[in-house]
Amino acid sequence: MFDFSGKTALITGAASGIGKATAEYFFGCGANVVLADINEGAARVVAEALDPSGERVSAFRYDAGASVSAAEVVAHAVERHSGIDHLVSCAGIYDQQITAEMTDEAWRRTIAINLDGVFFLVRSAIPVLRDNGAIVTLASVAAHVGGTGGHAHYGASKGGVLALTRGLAKDLAPRIRVNCVSPGLIETPMTGGLIGRMGEDILKQILLRRYGKPSEIASVIAFLCSDAASFVTGETIIVSGGAYMG
Ligand SMILES: NC(=O)c1ccc[n+]([C@@H]2O[C@H](COP(=O)([O-])OP(=O)(O)OC[C@H]3O[C@@H](n4cnc5c(N)ncnc54)[C@H](O)[C@@H]3O)[C@@H](O)[C@H]2O)c1
Repeated sequence: MFDFSGKTALITGAASGIGKATAEYFFGCGANVVLADINEGAARVVAEALDPSGERVSAFRYDAGASVSAAEVVAHAVERHSGIDHLVSCAGIYDQQITAEMTDEAWRRTIAINLDGVFFLVRSAIPVLRDNGAIVTLASVAAHVGGTGGHAHYGASKGGVLALTRGLAKDLAPRIRVNCVSPGLIETPMTGGLIGRMGEDILKQILLRRYGKPSEIASVIAFLCSDAASFVTGETIIVSGGAYMG
């Protein structure tokens, strides 16, 4: 655990899976946490379970695909905590679409939420990120290998996140560090269907012979935000149990 007392983390996609685990982890480290998610009701449930007093945790309705929503959630964080130290973009969608049958809308929606959303959020937060702040983006092993087939749009959006992370690291240095985590298969609502479809066979491709837990991504995100990673920027850490080695 790290000491994030007095720091403020804005975490998107915080109502579920990796974002939720990250919110729990940062709260446990002493941070103030803003949980941003399109599913405001679920984000509220997480927030109230973490901090019934509401002093250190709040939930906010946020749509990653809309730039105005990024500005609103950043304004909310500033109103509550007067600035942001840690920005973590976990909001994302994943669906199966064979490219030949993929509609314009399906392509656009995935790129809008998974890639445009990271840009909108970071651009809005730059003026209020405190010195020595840190940003962590979420890509995927799909960004490195193109996925397992049937989700080229998802892989492309996450490949964009990898490049965006490096570009942001250059633009925001030396004041803010920007890094990325690329998870392999982590057990969350997002992957329930995929794991079900692939069955036990997929475990043979994972050296550690199991799926990851959301908390095992949260701890790496926290490391990247912490002073333990004070000389790390523009980097991507792959957390896949050895399924993919970059
Ligand atoms: N689970 C995995 O195996 C895995 C692997 C690689 C990468 N990732 C990435 O990690 C991140 C978190 O994934 P997860 O597995 O926790 O998924 P999840 O489905 O459990 O959580 C995603 C969250 O994002 C929110 N969300 C969806 N669309 C949104 C929007 N338009 N605006 C705001 N919030 C929105 C959802 O409401 C949900 O709370 C995603 O970016 C995902 O692509 C996950």
